Amino acid sequence: MIAAPFGNVVCSFTVVAPFGNVKMMVPEELRRKLQHYRQEHVLAWWDRLEDTERRQLMDQLLSIDLERLAQLYAERDRIFSVPDPSQIKPPPVVPADAPDNAAMRMAGEEALRRGEVAALVVAGGQGSRLDFEHPKGMYPIGPISRKSLFQIHAEKVLALGRRYGKQLPFLIMTSPATDAETRSFFAERAYFGLPKEEVFFFCQGTMPALDLATGKLLLEAPGRLFLSPDGHGGVLTALRKSGLLEQLRRRGIRHLFYFQVDNPLVKVADPVFLGRHLSQRSEASSKIVPKQGPKDRLGNLVVVEGRCTIIEYSDLPDSLANERDANGQLRLWAGNPAIHIFDLDFLARVTEGAGLLPFHIARKKVPYLDDKGQVVRPQKENALKFERFIFDVLPLAERWLVMETSRREEFAPLKNAEGEDSPQTVQGALTNLAADWLTRAGIEAPRTANGEPAVALEISPLFALDADEFAARVDRSLRITTAMYFE
Ligand code: UTP
Repeated sequence: MIAAPFGNVVCSFTVVAPFGNVKMMVPEELRRKLQHYRQEHVLAWWDRLEDTERRQLMDQLLSIDLERLAQLYAERDRIFSVPDPSQIKPPPVVPADAPDNAAMRMAGEEALRRGEVAALVVAGGQGSRLDFEHPKGMYPIGPISRKSLFQIHAEKVLALGRRYGKQLPFLIMTSPATDAETRSFFAERAYFGLPKEEVFFFCQGTMPALDLATGKLLLEAPGRLFLSPDGHGGVLTALRKSGLLEQLRRRGIRHLFYFQVDNPLVKVADPVFLGRHLSQRSEASSKIVPKQGPKDRLGNLVVVEGRCTIIEYSDLPDSLANERDANGQLRLWAGNPAIHIFDLDFLARVTEGAGLLPFHIARKKVPYLDDKGQVVRPQKENALKFERFIFDVLPLAERWLVMETSRREEFAPLKNAEGEDSPQTVQGALTNLAADWLTRAGIEAPRTANGEPAVALEISPLFALDADEFAARVDRSLRITTAMYFE
């Protein structure tokens, strides 16, 4: 068989055949297949390649499904069809300050004590907008400590383990672009205090890019296709293929807390959210934040035919986006910050089939090798990239729930080098959160005229995981006059 199932989860290339000293030849079947799909140009440099390059190219070619790529190319102009507006409804949302939060917290804490929960961060993205030369998780985001995103997340997981007497497994999804550096970053820093055996790295699959005008595979070097990670939705295939899904189930893990590496505010395995997920026997639970305007650049969490569904902001028709209720509030107000809890049996069920989630097609600028062997850096979109999105799994859940949180408390993603969602705004958000916890503890930090903290503030997850814990630990007679880090 030539084509492997989509989503190769191998992070380093393996030799596929024992070619020994014999000059490597392209297997006839592969050559015919490439001709059939009019992709034989990828072999143009074959005779001039070193054997290692040939093997690499061969591995890449063997891992891709040319038939599926041809289909995707044929569908490139397919418009995302939004369901009829009459079918799109706002979801039922549990408010952030629901009266039964205390009971939910207790239920969630019990599950943490029983060791039924794992935390999973997706960190395979290329972080192209941030313009940082390492995996995004390595970005030093702590406003005072300069702790990396990875460290902040790992310390939350560690602190939860200490608090509940049971260490949660911490799963980190990487991609070929981030895998090696991420693993060494953790290893060199002794896994930030986590037991090494509770940290699991697994690598997501990749997808080739196609030339927009011709559908041809793009090469990034004479012996290498241009491949990129297959989207955060690739986590499902990768979890199954890596064997981790089965491993977690065998050790009694029943719920998976999912989050993205770029959000240092996330309350990892929030016990209240977890308790709610448990009490409703939800298969897929989601947090939402109120949208800041009709066309806020967040996915819209809505209900379509009784199913929890996300419609991307760019796909939501203006008429729907602008609709308001009798109180003047946006009718579709629930934004998706990508914080979920999945039931493990649900994930096992939905990952049984091969091509589980659909691919979303994006037009991007992709540097490529032209037929003269020159690298071309295009000025405008020249290629199609294919990604799966995790939120496409939500409509498959029979039982689901949605719980509100606020951006101020839980959502400040690091996306851009400057402007919105940049290091500056994320550090500001971490300082604001610390100032809010101080206020809750009866301590005031100096404020500017517009009410924002005038000095940098930061609270280590190892000092406190939430406002209550902070209030219980902090010295209430403290006076703050300058930047302060609570560790
Ligand atoms: P984004 O879609 O914001 O992508 O990812 P990104 O890679 O961080 O940044 P840009 O778009 O290239 O600038 C949201 C989350 O999903 C993860 C990212 O690591 C981030 O945590 N992700 C994204 C993956 O794990 N794999 C992917 O293929 C894509």
